[in-house]
Amino acid sequence: MSGLIPPHGGTLVNRVATPERAAELAKEAEGLTRVDLTAKQSCDVEMIGIGAFSPLTGFMGKADFDSVISDMKLANGHIWPIPITLATDEGKAKQGDRVALYAPNGVLQAVMTVEEVYAHDTAKEATIFFNDPADDDGNHPGAEAVKNEGPVCLAGPIEVVTVCVDPEGPEAFLDKRLTPAQTRAEFEKRGWKTVSAFQTRNPIHRAHEYLCKCAQEITDGLLIHPLVGETKPGDIPADVRMQCYETLIKDYFVDERTMLTVMPAAMRYAGPREAILHALVRKNYGVTHFIVGRDHAGVGSYYGTYDAQNIFDTLDEEDLGIEPLKFEHAAFSRKAQGMVSGKTFPKIDGDQIFLSGTKVREMLSKGERPPGEFTRPEVADILIEWATSTQPAGV
Ligand code: ADX
Repeated sequence: MSGLIPPHGGTLVNRVATPERAAELAKEAEGLTRVDLTAKQSCDVEMIGIGAFSPLTGFMGKADFDSVISDMKLANGHIWPIPITLATDEGKAKQGDRVALYAPNGVLQAVMTVEEVYAHDTAKEATIFFNDPADDDGNHPGAEAVKNEGPVCLAGPIEVVTVCVDPEGPEAFLDKRLTPAQTRAEFEKRGWKTVSAFQTRNPIHRAHEYLCKCAQEITDGLLIHPLVGETKPGDIPADVRMQCYETLIKDYFVDERTMLTVMPAAMRYAGPREAILHALVRKNYGVTHFIVGRDHAGVGSYYGTYDAQNIFDTLDEEDLGIEPLKFEHAAFSRKAQGMVSGKTFPKIDGDQIFLSGTKVREMLSKGERPPGEFTRPEVADILIEWATSTQPAGV
């Protein structure tokens, strides 16, 4: 990884046990206290294990927890915006114990050395989701998830036994589940010195595609890097989105300049703070430029349209390392006959094609294609097939 951007904190972490070590750990786990992970924690174990959360080698202790919440930094001074905690029930473990971490499907995922046990201040952690604590209306999915977590945090390094806990599952994407080290190797193979990354938890619509293409004009390659870990009910499942991405890339992107792999993180919906986390993680994957559009990682109306961009201006650029590529709200203009933003085309009443998420879902579940100016027909057809055949909750 010589010529590539250094990982956050300087060293790319690898906490995945070798097959021999994994066999030893599996044997040891039989005699250890069992800790059952939530879906989010299970995603975090994978992210730590593969080095996507470098420099973290395990779940955070109290000094990091406090400093991340108050200063968006680890106790060692490196930028870090969101606590990565293993919250569980009282009385599970004491300092010095080793515990076995089981994924929600019952698979042994990791073994952890407990270096610290501390009370989980859920109210304090929930504050990271809001610009003002008064904005907490009890409905923010990320904050509510934190409030429902266990009262005690276990901290310490982990060794991962099973990286992808459900290799047969619909969201395994084994050929696309590249680790940061594998992703970096692929960039080197392709000769990409500058790489932009596009984070998404949605199908790629025309506005997303426009951002990706602008980034492609200024970097050697584009990594389309959808989040495929836990998302909230109502979000489109990752396997359906992957079909959309593959079809779109085949028909509308240049193969040699575009790469599609997945990021197995859970979504927190933490807006600006999560935008920073998303950027740091992509730096670990070897990316140099990170796309941040309107209301990145937002939910409801908790954040201002450009909060997730402005927050980058408060950070130490050198420690951040990766460059945020900030994009204004983009949409198709009837008059310009193309994608525009407030930076590139005058605002004319009724000129731009905007569709709410609710409207799009309504159209899809009736079998109607949204206009081609909003989403490519090939993508619309995959979504219609999903929306009309399964009728999952939220559609
Ligand atoms: S996110 O939770 O991953 O941010 P989404 O998949 O909708 O949600 O967005 C992916 C990226 O595209 C984010 O950087 C977001 O800010 C950006 N984005 C989404 N829609 C638009 C738009 N119409 N104009 C500009 N940026 C957008």
